[in-house]
Amino acid sequence: MNKKNILCIGAGYVGGPTMAVIAKKCPDYRVTVVDINPERISAWNSSRLPIYEPGLDEIVAETRGKNLFFSTDIEGAIRDNDIIFVSVNTPTKAFGIGAGMAADLRYWEKTARQILENARSPKIVIEKSTLPVKTALAMERILASAEGGVEFEVLSNPEFLAEGSAIRDLEYPDRVLIGSRDTDRGRRARDTLVEIYSRWVPREKIITTNIWSSELSKLVANAFLAQRVSSINAVSALCEKTEADVTEVARAVGLDSRIGGRFLNASVGFGGSCFKKDILNLVYLCRFYGLDEVADYWERVVKINVYQQERFIEKMLSAMFNTLAGKRICLFGFAFKADTGDTRESPAIYIAKRLLEEQAEVVVTDPRALENARADLAGVGGSVQFVEDPYEAAVGAHAVCVMTEWDLYRRLDYGRIWEEMVKPAFLFDGRNILDHRRCFEMGFNVYAIGKPPLTHF
Ligand SMILES: NC(=O)c1ccc[n+]([C@@H]2O[C@H](COP(=O)([O-])OP(=O)(O)OC[C@H]3O[C@@H](n4cnc5c(N)ncnc54)[C@H](O)[C@@H]3O)[C@@H](O)[C@H]2O)c1
Repeated sequence: MNKKNILCIGAGYVGGPTMAVIAKKCPDYRVTVVDINPERISAWNSSRLPIYEPGLDEIVAETRGKNLFFSTDIEGAIRDNDIIFVSVNTPTKAFGIGAGMAADLRYWEKTARQILENARSPKIVIEKSTLPVKTALAMERILASAEGGVEFEVLSNPEFLAEGSAIRDLEYPDRVLIGSRDTDRGRRARDTLVEIYSRWVPREKIITTNIWSSELSKLVANAFLAQRVSSINAVSALCEKTEADVTEVARAVGLDSRIGGRFLNASVGFGGSCFKKDILNLVYLCRFYGLDEVADYWERVVKINVYQQERFIEKMLSAMFNTLAGKRICLFGFAFKADTGDTRESPAIYIAKRLLEEQAEVVVTDPRALENARADLAGVGGSVQFVEDPYEAAVGAHAVCVMTEWDLYRRLDYGRIWEEMVKPAFLFDGRNILDHRRCFEMGFNVYAIGKPPLTHF
């Protein structure tokens, strides 16, 4: 007999890894993950999981079929489980009021209604998805419309994992945040969740707050992270005009313990499914509450990110004699960051599309993300090729652009790559990961972010 039955609705980048780690850490709990997408569920039940995360395969192999189960039977699972995490997607709304800004809560609301229709016993419903502040109120109102008198308690427990290091982040989180209502029932539900996490997370790292602080903290955390990237990227533009080196500036600035050195790497821009959507969500909330100055402040973080990507294209154009038409440009990496196959909002998508507009021939290589890259560029038009091997991808290229900081790209033989390229050969390092001086000495014209270019003419 399992001590507790836990359900997660939504088997995505968050639901899958999070529940796998709970199953591993709580072998006496039975953990079920459901999804409306049957292909996703069958992939979770196969030897080829639907997402790539270092360490995930091992944990799933250890727990699946023992106390971790993936299923499409959402209704049955709601009936059988009294602790329900909801980790469905909450993308940016693409239509109507708030289009391009607000969160699209249709998946979220559908889940609330499914829970309402199928629940026969009291449930703790835990918001794992990132949501606008006050969403729990809407969830509570939907659930309170139950006629059968079933009790529901809604908690907020946002997820802070980063893709690429999800398993490590889940096993050793900086903190776990649980927001609850300040009522007897709210506190009891909160304690149930604290008990689960305290199986492996030190108690002082489990923070409990009021429910609205919890919802808002997730949006603010992502806004702060993205803001750091946009801040250093804005500085990189100034470095390029003044012969300062952004890496040196970031190091000098980051050694100040009040500032800290992490998340200060200048790059072609941030990507991922969350930063942009969560900031826009924050911006929308601020405008809704009449705080236009606050909204404008955060909106600049997103605008600088677009500016940074466009600057990359402009730099390529001016370096390559103002035309990219017919030139073969090889993108090293398409994932939005290393160690994931996820390409959602990847700067590589923007760069590839802009290169195609300039009528360049684009070659994409990536160790994990080619399938997603194909889907992202399907129907875009123009010449795009997908090549697994980076050496092969770069043959006949006029330029190589590093889009993702995969370790693999640091270790390539750039002398061999240079040999096979059209001369003059250009290297644009959108992640500042290569040894620029060495590449320059091999013959490349090297353009990094926020550094003086190293050119042979
Ligand atoms: N990806 C991240 O790094 C990350 C980190 C922290 C928080 N989050 C947040 O977590 C949430 C989920 O993100 P994700 O990246 O896992 O998204 P995802 O798109 O990978 O997964 C969401 C899953 O929910 C399923 N789904 C949608 N509606 C459903 C329904 N009614 N019933 C059952 N399943 C349903 C979808 O089919 C999909 O498989 C989002 O709110 C996101 O902002 C994401």
